[in-house]
Amino acid sequence: MKPNVDIKALDNAHHLHPFTTHHELRETGPRVITHAEGVYIYDEDGNRILDGMAGLWCVQLGYGRQELVDVAAEAMKNLSYYNLFFQTTTPYAAKLADLISQKTPEGLDQITFASSGSEAVDSAIKLIWYYWNLKGKPEKKAIIARERAYHGSTAAAASLSGLPFMQGIFDLPLPRFHHVAPTPHYYEYAEPGESERDFAMRCAKALEDKILELGPENVAAFAGEPVMGAGGLMLPPEGYWAEVERICRKYDILLWSDEVICGFGRTGEWFGCQKYGFTPDIMTMAKGITSGYIPLSAVALSNTMAEPIINADTEMAHGFTYSGHPVAAAVALRNIELLDELDLVGEHGARTARYFQAKLKTLDDHPLVGETRGVGLLGAMELVKDKHKKERFSPDGRAGTLCRNNCFNTGVVMRAVGDTMFLCPPLVITEDEIDALFDLVRKALDKTAIELGV
Ligand SMILES: Cc1ncc(COP(=O)(O)O)c(C=O)c1O
Repeated sequence: MKPNVDIKALDNAHHLHPFTTHHELRETGPRVITHAEGVYIYDEDGNRILDGMAGLWCVQLGYGRQELVDVAAEAMKNLSYYNLFFQTTTPYAAKLADLISQKTPEGLDQITFASSGSEAVDSAIKLIWYYWNLKGKPEKKAIIARERAYHGSTAAAASLSGLPFMQGIFDLPLPRFHHVAPTPHYYEYAEPGESERDFAMRCAKALEDKILELGPENVAAFAGEPVMGAGGLMLPPEGYWAEVERICRKYDILLWSDEVICGFGRTGEWFGCQKYGFTPDIMTMAKGITSGYIPLSAVALSNTMAEPIINADTEMAHGFTYSGHPVAAAVALRNIELLDELDLVGEHGARTARYFQAKLKTLDDHPLVGETRGVGLLGAMELVKDKHKKERFSPDGRAGTLCRNNCFNTGVVMRAVGDTMFLCPPLVITEDEIDALFDLVRKALDKTAIELGV
């Protein structure tokens, strides 16, 4: 479907994009995506591209599902808008809070809504501070995250993130946010000869050291993505989360699982914390909650954390015009039902994930690939100059950008951060489509290797 106006020209004239170097974009012009179906997106030149990234890690059910279109249209006709302020609710929001509370780990039963992952993160930060104020410990305000974490891009969420390139230009981070290293990523940060378990303990110890440095009486929470996503798709080393949970309990620090990517089946369980066997006090979720069809996010609080908030005499003076929007809540409800009906977080999903992970492993033999790693329907590969010496290309990011562009031109979307390539396909992907995905990825890798002289 070729639009009959020059979309590239319009875009170049008036549109500032997220996370973009604009003079570069305006030289080349954007790629125009016009429609999508199943696991495929289509550009204005009619190219069909297999979306190996489920949009931005969110399209669990694939594109264009009629069931979601229908519930959105019905809800929009029935109750196009109403808010949840002033002691009011809607059947959609009430049912969704109930359904999410059935999926979260036991004891995390109190749900509040927002529209984006960053808003959920911002909400969680405020609720954590509010909780400690209500508990009579107002000095507990520091929030610790990891270097290379991604928690979103509002002022507070960018401060919590551990990515300096999104902070310095905006005079962030705000006070009260602290970051620990090493990032728990065995391939990159383990010492030669260090076992995975020893490395996990060293990463957890870094958290404990930071808590002691700040004073446990000043530390409110530790935030982490179960699998670190946008900062480089890094899987937790064995034993890491259990040790982190133990440390948080020891010092009376809230444990916050940011499930914006890992939630809704991405790692094989409903939430990443269930996959890695820890129980947080607070969870943030977005993306897969509606398969990206419409913006919606949520925060789940443990009953213990919610109790002082529910019993407080002060109003929880927080929320948004679109918190739990009825149309978004209707889509989320049907989306979660479909994840169940299609068994995408059950045996069917597990079979697909096994197939995907086995295919990912076959890339280990590629001369450009230093490591593959993955869980559920998440996969990553490191592009290296010399896989035996683990030697990287210089400058970092050149190989990744080249590979990402080769992927697009070959007909598959992979994302690059530095020289790490990611895959995160829709959960509905079939085994045949996984075969097609990896054929295209291998082709793009071959082309990249030739261009890099590997
Ligand atoms: C773990 C995590 N938290 C928060 C966010 C922010 O979500 P949003 O882009 O919807 O604001 C993201 C986005 O990728 C994320 O991966």
